[in-house]
Amino acid sequence: MKAPRRAQAAVFLAASGVAGLSGCATEPHALSPAGEGAGMIANLTWAFVAISAVVFAVVLVLLVVAARKEPVEASPERDRGSIRWIVIGGALIPAVVLTGMFVPTLLTLNELSEMPTEDGLVIEIVGKQWWWEVVYRDGREPQRVVRSANEVHIPAGVRVPVRLTATDVIHSFWVPALQGKMDLIPGRTNRIWLHADSAGLFRGACAEYCGLQHTMMQILVVAHPPAEFEQWLRREEGVMDRELSAEAARHAAHGHEQDRGEEVFMQQGCGYCHSIRGTPARGRLGPDLTHFGSRRTIAAMTLPNNRGNLAGWISNPQGIKPGAKMPRVPLSPDQLNTLVTYLEALR
Ligand code: CUA
Repeated sequence: MKAPRRAQAAVFLAASGVAGLSGCATEPHALSPAGEGAGMIANLTWAFVAISAVVFAVVLVLLVVAARKEPVEASPERDRGSIRWIVIGGALIPAVVLTGMFVPTLLTLNELSEMPTEDGLVIEIVGKQWWWEVVYRDGREPQRVVRSANEVHIPAGVRVPVRLTATDVIHSFWVPALQGKMDLIPGRTNRIWLHADSAGLFRGACAEYCGLQHTMMQILVVAHPPAEFEQWLRREEGVMDRELSAEAARHAAHGHEQDRGEEVFMQQGCGYCHSIRGTPARGRLGPDLTHFGSRRTIAAMTLPNNRGNLAGWISNPQGIKPGAKMPRVPLSPDQLNTLVTYLEALR
């Protein structure tokens, strides 16, 4: 019996080792920082690991030395020696070590909480069950507002101020490769900044249990080179370009498919919950869909954004994300097809 069990244990350890390694390579990791915030936190973490390792080694050595010592008779002199060990080794040295760790912690906290000025781009993220509303504001021109969802676009190389709040329960915004966690609390605005060293995609997630679909409340940070970011923002400010992707064009039976799709959207009452700028749809309960077709995922990174997934999502949201507020809307196959074409064309 023993041998198979040992073999099982070996296989399990090897498998978990492989899983751990592959996890490092593909998943967002706080110890592979890609921005200044996460970099500071990672440096602090490594310093703490090093200090803790030294302390652990010293304690182990003392333990071995003590264990190998011959027992000695109790005497006043021995008691004084013991007290000296306890005061120096048990109080003085730990106090020095802990203070030594506390000071860099304070300095890091201080730098992390220092907010960049809000006289340019300010991003507001609102946590909702179970998606993220993302609002881009211009500190100098308050009338410039862009509403989007589930993707945070930032220019790379600068610290972008982010305001965090929630409308239902407490959520927590965490993009491990870029910054530490920060709670989103109803009725309160927390502040944080995001910085990415270079352009790239960074996955984040809600880090505070917030109900049934907490796991499916993920977010993607898209860092652009600054000029590209400006272009992206200008494009978002505009209403839909009604630009058909090649795939959508193939599916469009005739030129009016998008108009018919918009008709279905309005008739079925989708506009009571969703907004599409440039149309009568003004709902605020669900994500703004003005540029929905350009987003990489649907339902807060639950599925990649493509025709098949979108059709599946619209046909039966509760089957994909039980508990989500999106209701099932009965549509004929033709209505569903035109609606999907319309939504995917909102780029
Ligand atoms: Cu939102 Cu967990």
